[in-house]
Amino acid sequence: MADPTPDAWRRVDRYLTDTLVGQDAALDAAVAAQDDAGLPSIEVAPVAGKLLHLLARISGARRVLEIGTLGGYSTIWLARGIPADGRVTTIEAEPRNADIARANLDRAGVGDRVEIRQGRAEDVLPTLVGTFDLVFIDADKESNTLYLEWAARLGHPGTVVVVDNVGRSGEVADPDASASNVVGTRRGLEMLGADPRFDATALQTLDRKGWDGVAIAVLTDVVDATDDLIDP
Ligand code: DHB
Ligand code: MG
Repeated sequence: MADPTPDAWRRVDRYLTDTLVGQDAALDAAVAAQDDAGLPSIEVAPVAGKLLHLLARISGARRVLEIGTLGGYSTIWLARGIPADGRVTTIEAEPRNADIARANLDRAGVGDRVEIRQGRAEDVLPTLVGTFDLVFIDADKESNTLYLEWAARLGHPGTVVVVDNVGRSGEVADPDASASNVVGTRRGLEMLGADPRFDATALQTLDRKGWDGVAIAVLTDVVDATDDLIDP
């Protein structure tokens, strides 16, 4: 059996992607437009995008909140996982990213069910109304605990919460790693483990983006009981 070298895991990622995800013109075009515009190539891998899509379908999500749009790649996956009359609200701090995402979403045919809120998430989140059935957190890692707090506040028992990039090439468990994004990621995971409003796990991932991880949680029925007490 092959060692888990980068070559081997990328081969497996390609195999899984080819076998289970396949080619997709709208998603390819979204990545191409994002690359052409010079945005960083940090969108979720295809297999991870499909995981988001499946989580939306499995949970029957109608309202989805995404924090961190980038070029809208994961947004397309999420939007395809909800009914035509559902809604994805996605928050993006960079106006240029938001413009590219708008074009990508419209080209993919899901623009009518996606609202892009351009602004800093910490400013936009307090303005959101209603509840969300799925929340995907994929923005500045320093704010993960704040975003989880908002996920608890804007969700309901049963809401699915997903956090990207929780492995960070192993840095998350490296005692010498003290960069602010690693510390923020760790604090988020510790909150997911300790806060009774969340029931969570996390999986390491090896895909075309390298060694990382994804946390998945569900909001418990403690959410309703604490709603009045939360002041993020
Ligand atoms: C980074 C952010 C991401 O959301 C990601 O998926 C990969 C890397 C980063 O900030 O380095
Ligand atoms: Mg990410």
